[in-house]
Amino acid sequence: MPFAPLVRALVRVRSKGGEAPVVRSGVLAGAVAAAALAASVTTTACGPGEGAPGPGPRAPGPGETTAPPPSASAPEPLPPASGTTMTPVPGPPPEPMKPAQPSAMADKLREIGVDPTALPPLNKLDAKTLRDVMNTFTKALGVKCSHCHEKDFRAPTANKKIATHMWNDFTRGLALDGGGLLYCDSCHGGRAQFLDRTDLRALGAWMQESYVDKMRRADKKDHGCETCHGDPFEGKILTKLWK
Ligand code: HEC
Ligand code: HEC
Ligand code: HEC
Repeated sequence: MPFAPLVRALVRVRSKGGEAPVVRSGVLAGAVAAAALAASVTTTACGPGEGAPGPGPRAPGPGETTAPPPSASAPEPLPPASGTTMTPVPGPPPEPMKPAQPSAMADKLREIGVDPTALPPLNKLDAKTLRDVMNTFTKALGVKCSHCHEKDFRAPTANKKIATHMWNDFTRGLALDGGGLLYCDSCHGGRAQFLDRTDLRALGAWMQESYVDKMRRADKKDHGCETCHGDPFEGKILTKLWK
C-alpha cells in the first residue's frame, strides 16, 4: 500500500518547509520524491519560475496547514495554492494506465535478426536491421516515422534522443520480474504518451507498482525510482535528465 508512506512523507516534507530530506532507500525515496513533486505543483501553481512571489501573506490552502490523515485510502489531488486550476499537461485525455506487460514483439525481433534476450546497443545495429527495428518503434508507439524523424533521417531530434535512451537504459538496462521481454510495447502499448499526470502522487504510486516492484535492473543493483529519475529525484526525465 504505497499511499500511507506517501502521505507520511508529505507530512515530513511540509514540516521541513518544503525541503525534501535526502533519503536513499527505494520506496521511501520514491514517496518523498512524489510528495515533493506534489508540493512543487502546489507552489508553482501561483506563478512560474523563480521570479514568482513566495507564499507571502495569502491565506494558506487547506492542504498546506493540515496534512491529510495517514489512513486516507485515495488521496485527493492537492488543491492549487492560489485557487487557480492547474494547467493541464498537453497530451491525450487520460485513459487508465496499464502496467508494463511482457512484449508481444519477441518473435518479430528474432525474425529481423535481433536477439530479444540480449538486445545490442542501438548504434551497433547494421543499417538493414536498424531499419527493420524502426517498424517495431512505430507499431509499439502507434506513431509514424515523422514522430521522431525530420526529412533527413540522420538529423538529430528530441524524440530520437529519447528513443535511444529508452532502448539503451530501459529495454537493455531493465527486465520484467518473472520473465518476459521488456520492450517498447511493454510500456507504450501502442501509444506515445500514456501517463496520467492529473495527480502526481497517484502517478508516483503507480510507478512504484508498475516500474519498480515489477522490474529489476540488468546489472542487479538495487532498483528504485532513482534508477530512472536519478538522485536527487528529477521528474522530467525526457526534457531535463536526458536533455
Ligand atoms: C520512436 C522514434 C523513432 C521512430 C518512430 C522512427 N525512428 Fe528511425 N531512428 C530512431 C533512432 C533513435 C535512430 C538511431 C539514431 C542514431 O543512433 O543515430 C533512428 C535511425 C533511423 C535511420 C538511420 C539514420 C542514420 O543516422 O543513418 C533511418 C533510415 C530511420 N531511422 C528510418 C526510420 C523510418 C523509415 C521510420 C518509420 C518506419 C522510423 N525511422 C521511425 C528513432 C525513430
Ligand atoms: C519502462 C517503460 C518504458 C519502456 C520499456 C519504453 N518507454 Fe518510451 N516512454 C515511457 C514513458 C513513461 C514515457 C512518457 C510517456 C508520457 O509522457 O505519457 C515514454 C516516452 C517516450 C517517447 C516520447 C513520446 C512523446 O511523444 O512524448 C518516445 C519517443 C519513446 N518513449 C520511445 C520509446 C522507444 C522507442 C522504446 C523502446 C526502445 C521505449 N520508448 C521503451 C516508458 C517506456
Ligand atoms: C523504469 C523507469 C522509471 C521508474 C523506475 C520510475 N519512473 Fe517515474 N517516470 C518515468 C518516465 C519515463 C516518466 C516521464 C518523464 C517525463 O515526462 O519527462 C516518469 C514520470 C514520473 C512522474 C511525473 C513527473 C512530471 O513532472 O510530470 C512522477 C511523479 C514519477 N514519475 C514518479 C515516480 C516515482 C515516485 C517512482 C518510484 C516509486 C518512479 N517514478 C519510478 C520512468 C520511471
